[in-house]
Amino acid sequence: MKPVLHIEIVQRSQSRANKDGIKELVRPFLMNLVSLCPGAILSESDLGEYHDLKEHVQMITVCDIDNDTEVIASEAVLVYHIYKLDTFGAETDTMTDSSTGEEFAAAEVWALPSQEFHGLWESLIYDTKLKEDTVRFVETAFEFADRGVDPNIIGWNRVVLLHGPPGTGKTSLCRALAQKLSIRLAERFPRVRLVEINAHGLFSKWFAESGKLVARLFERLEEIVADPRLLACVLVDEVESLAHARRAALSGLEPSDSIRAVNALLTQLDRLRRRPNALVLTTSNVTGAIDVAFVDRADIKRRVGPPSARAAYEILRGCCVQLMMRGLVTPREALPAPRADGAAPAGGPGAALWAVAAAAAARAVSGRALRRLPFLARALHVRGDASLPRFVAALDAALRDHLADSAALQD
Ligand SMILES: Nc1ncnc2c1ncn2[C@@H]1O[C@H](COP(=O)(O)OP(=O)(O)OP(=O)(O)O)[C@@H](O)[C@H]1O
Ligand SMILES: [Mg+2]
Repeated sequence: MKPVLHIEIVQRSQSRANKDGIKELVRPFLMNLVSLCPGAILSESDLGEYHDLKEHVQMITVCDIDNDTEVIASEAVLVYHIYKLDTFGAETDTMTDSSTGEEFAAAEVWALPSQEFHGLWESLIYDTKLKEDTVRFVETAFEFADRGVDPNIIGWNRVVLLHGPPGTGKTSLCRALAQKLSIRLAERFPRVRLVEINAHGLFSKWFAESGKLVARLFERLEEIVADPRLLACVLVDEVESLAHARRAALSGLEPSDSIRAVNALLTQLDRLRRRPNALVLTTSNVTGAIDVAFVDRADIKRRVGPPSARAAYEILRGCCVQLMMRGLVTPREALPAPRADGAAPAGGPGAALWAVAAAAAARAVSGRALRRLPFLARALHVRGDASLPRFVAALDAALRDHLADSAALQD
C-alpha cells in the first residue's frame, strides 16, 4: 500500500488562484524535493527559485498521521489541503445583565482556519499519539454520520473530553484540533466556527440572569448550526465548573435559578451534540469522575499528562532553536532530535539539555511552565546574548528556581 501524506498549503490572502492552479504549482516543487519528511514545514525561504509558487503560497506543511519516516514523493499518495488563514480574530459575543447594565463576554467566536492558531498543532508535543488519535476519532465520527450508521446500533458521538493537570495543553489541543479539522474537512465543511463558551464566567456571578443568558447563547448557536455546510466546534473549558455550580445550588448555597441555568446549558449541549455538524470539545482539570452527565457520554476521553523527558526535550529544543533564530542565543548550533530509543543524546549541549528535560519530567513540570523557562533563564541567569551551552546552564538554573517557587507555594 502506498503511504499517504497530507500536504497542507497556506495560500496567501491576496492570491486569487484556484485550488487546482495551486496544486499545479506545488506538485512539481514537491517532486523536485524527491523525499518528503512528515512534520516538515516549508516556508518562503525554502521555496527557492519557485517564484510563481511564492507569489501564491505562504507555507507548506507535510503531515502524516501514522509514522514519521521519510517518504519518496513520487511513491506516495499526496492529499492536498489548500486554505487561507482568517485574520479577523475572535468576535466576542457580549451580553448585558439587564439588572446592572454590566457587559459580559458569554462566548468568543472564531472563523477557522485562523491566523491565531496557525502552527499551534505543530507546537504541541506529546509522547503518545494523542493528537493523531483525536483527529482520527473525530474524522471517524463524521464518516459514520455520513454513511448513515444507525446510532442505536453502534454508539458514537461527537463529544471530546480532555482532562489532566493544569498547563498540559488541553485548551490548546482543543483549539488546534478545531483548526486541523477546518483544514482536513474543508470539502465537507467549507465554513468552520470555533465557539468558546465562557462557562466559568456564565455561572460565577450571574445567577439571576444566567438562565436567560444561556437561552440567548443557544439561540445564537442554533443560528450558526442551521447551516449544514458549517462545522461548529463548541469549546467548554473547565467543564467541572458546571458541576460545582450545580452542587452549590443543590446545597442551597446559591439561588435555585442557578441550577435551572446549569441544567439548561447541559441539556442544550446534549442537544447540540446530536447535530451532524456540531462537535463539543470539553476540558477539565479534575482527573477523577466529572459528574457532568453529558460528559460521561463522551467516547473520546483522553488524559493529558505532563511531558515526559522526551517531550520536554522537544519543547525546550524548539525554544532554543527559536532563540538562536532570533540571535539571542549565538552562534547557531545544531541540537540533535531525540533518539528513537529514548536514550539521552551523547555529549554536547544536547546531553545537557536532556538532563534539564529529564529533571523537569521527574518533577512533572507542565508544558506551560517549560515554555516559560527560557524567558526566566534569559531574564535572570544570563547577561545579554549567550552561547548555547551557557544558555542551557541558565535553563537548568531557571528550572531549579521554578521548582523551589512551586515548593514554597505548597508550604
Ligand atoms: N505538551 C505540550 N507541548 C507543547 N506545549 C505545551 C504542552 N502543554 C502545554 N503547553 C503550552 O503551555 C501553555 C498552556 O497550555 P493550555 O492553556 O492549553 O493548558 P491547559 O491544559 O488548558 O491548562 P489549564 O488546565 O490551566 O487550563 C500553552 O502555551 C501551550 O503551548
Ligand atoms: Mg485550559
